[in-house]
Amino acid sequence: MPAELIDGTAIAREVRSDVARDTARLIARGIRPGLAVVLVGENPASAVYVRAKGKASEEAGMHSVTIRLPADTTQAQLFEQVDRLNADPAIHGILVQMPLPKQIDSQAVVRRVRPEKDVDGFHPVNAGKLLIGERDGFAPCTPAGVQEMLVRSGIETKGSECVIVGRSTIVGKPMAALLIQDAPGANATVTICHSRTVDLGAHTRRADILIVAAGRPRFITGDMVKPGSVVIDVGINRVDDVRAKNGYILVGDVDFATVREVAGRITPVPGGVGPMTIAMLLKNTVRAAELASAELASAGAAA
Ligand code: GUN
Repeated sequence: MPAELIDGTAIAREVRSDVARDTARLIARGIRPGLAVVLVGENPASAVYVRAKGKASEEAGMHSVTIRLPADTTQAQLFEQVDRLNADPAIHGILVQMPLPKQIDSQAVVRRVRPEKDVDGFHPVNAGKLLIGERDGFAPCTPAGVQEMLVRSGIETKGSECVIVGRSTIVGKPMAALLIQDAPGANATVTICHSRTVDLGAHTRRADILIVAAGRPRFITGDMVKPGSVVIDVGINRVDDVRAKNGYILVGDVDFATVREVAGRITPVPGGVGPMTIAMLLKNTVRAAELASAELASAGAAA
């Protein structure tokens, strides 16, 4: 029997509906969560993502600001914008869309955003908090979305063998940090595999939960998967296909046709992890607003 599909679009809709409810509650208390998205240049894929983020935050009832800067923006000019947003009390979350033009040092920009407004979860302070298990930081949206999907699909992570393929700062490493915590939706035994791993299949075949973020189309094939396991495909790749209207199709890092014959449950591409990322961005933004209001209240009580 082919694997059951894990429907990321439906789960993301649930998360976004929870976010809209929490946003309405905050608005009733006089706080409207605000998200600012900054786009530098005209990368077409980035422009699509930025529009989607703006639209989703508006739909959730948030205050939404999109700042578009020209491709020749200097680092100092971008810092000026970030500093302004850092100081703006109506903005609780700031996201600077990556990749940035080459004259700009992305890591310096990541560090410039106040950690309390870093809803991307990229700032070293938030990366550190995630690793330590401090709950008042922000986890990067894609791995947080994978964890949310597992929890909402009723997939037990506690004591499971979880194998992650890919060690990126945005997905693989924070994914491992999330799943090793002594917390709900975690407590897994985690292995991270990467381009220098010897005998990758020996690792992936042990996985009860296999999470693939390798950036290589159809990299994981059916023979590399444990029968009945859960397979989460974080990849999204364009591959040429003459039968497609626009000449290409989107595929994951998992070879869906062969893996779905072996796995118990699997995320499709598109419609799997992708929609979860924006949902988690909204969730982080609401939490940033809640934390900011709690901070204000305690500062007021102390004064
Ligand atoms: N570019 C692609 N994905 C992301 C993301 O999650 N955050 C930011 N800031 N840029 C991205």
